[in-house]
Amino acid sequence: MARTELTVNDLRNLENRIKDKSAEIGVVGLGYVGLPLALAFAEAGFMVTGIDSDKTRVNKITRGISYLLDIESARLKKAVKGGKLKATVIPSILRRVDIIIICVPTPLTSTKEPDLTYIVNATNEIARYLRLGHLVILESTTYPGTTREIVLPLLESTGLRVGVDYFLTFSPERIDPGSRKFTIRNTPKVVGGMEPKSTRFAAMLYGHVSDRVLEVSSPEVAEMDKVFENVFRSVNIALVNELAKLCEKMNINVWEVIKAASSKPFGYMPFFPGPGVGGHCIPLDPHYLEWKAREYNFNTHFIALAGEINQPERGHGSERGQGRVGGG
Ligand SMILES: NC(=O)c1ccc[n+]([C@@H]2O[C@H](COP(=O)([O-])OP(=O)(O)OC[C@H]3O[C@@H](n4cnc5c(N)ncnc54)[C@H](O)[C@@H]3O)[C@@H](O)[C@H]2O)c1
Repeated sequence: MARTELTVNDLRNLENRIKDKSAEIGVVGLGYVGLPLALAFAEAGFMVTGIDSDKTRVNKITRGISYLLDIESARLKKAVKGGKLKATVIPSILRRVDIIIICVPTPLTSTKEPDLTYIVNATNEIARYLRLGHLVILESTTYPGTTREIVLPLLESTGLRVGVDYFLTFSPERIDPGSRKFTIRNTPKVVGGMEPKSTRFAAMLYGHVSDRVLEVSSPEVAEMDKVFENVFRSVNIALVNELAKLCEKMNINVWEVIKAASSKPFGYMPFFPGPGVGGHCIPLDPHYLEWKAREYNFNTHFIALAGEINQPERGHGSERGQGRVGGG
């Protein structure tokens, strides 16, 4: 009869395989988030297979050709040649790997509501190959509750139980595209599992590529943390946008004001006027939280106001003081 539960030995085995890097990793979605992460794990010594539905991307990786500015082809080539990094369009590889990290897009619908199609499709694919001992990690930015309300039921429809048969964690990506200062290594990683073992295994894993891993008590905390970080930026960009407009009317140099404010060593963080918000994250992610808040009859005033002020035709501000505009 097939075993339906992990033994203490299985758990120890998974732990040891993460510790000694013999655990194999599958990264679903090889974009701005997935490819750098896959490469980081491959360079740390893990066997990594990237799974992407885009054949062109997969072919490029296989030939060691990067399609991202942040990743030099030479780095990619080295990992591929060394046998540590592979890419495929065939999802059945998910059965073999020990750890699956989901890095698929989370766009908005035309009515600015969360579009979880990619997460649902990727999770359904994973569910087809889910087995005892798998660790599944969601990295895509999304609203609090997604891991528990969307991903978990799809995985549990297989009959496997989280914390008993497999593990499930949310860990937000904090990549700052284009930045040389902040990398996966020196940006702390937050992990929140469905239960303690899920958190612990994910924390052990990320400890190989990140100098600091912060464990939180649930996926919801980790999910909210990520959207809050992006709302924080959106609101501060809006604030400096508005200030810039007022300064213009009052004939005050806003740059000089910001420079003066920046001399305060506490309680202030500079954001600078610019053309509005851009990139993948800041214009989108706050709407995820705004949408979820409605379920609780809660009006997120700051998000709405910042979105209004940050519209390109009205906007003025950017987050140049915080690194690249629009990074995640
Ligand atoms: N780009 C950033 O700066 C950034 C930063 C932090 C977080 N994020 C978040 O990370 C997530 C991924 O963003 P991204 O910028 O890497 O997206 P991306 O569009 O660059 O890449 C996503 C990849 O996933 C692939 N894909 C989609 N569905 C798939 C499936 N079912 N199976 C296999 N592959 C699939 C696509 O072909 C694409 O290559 C999003 O939730 C985003 O909000 C992005």
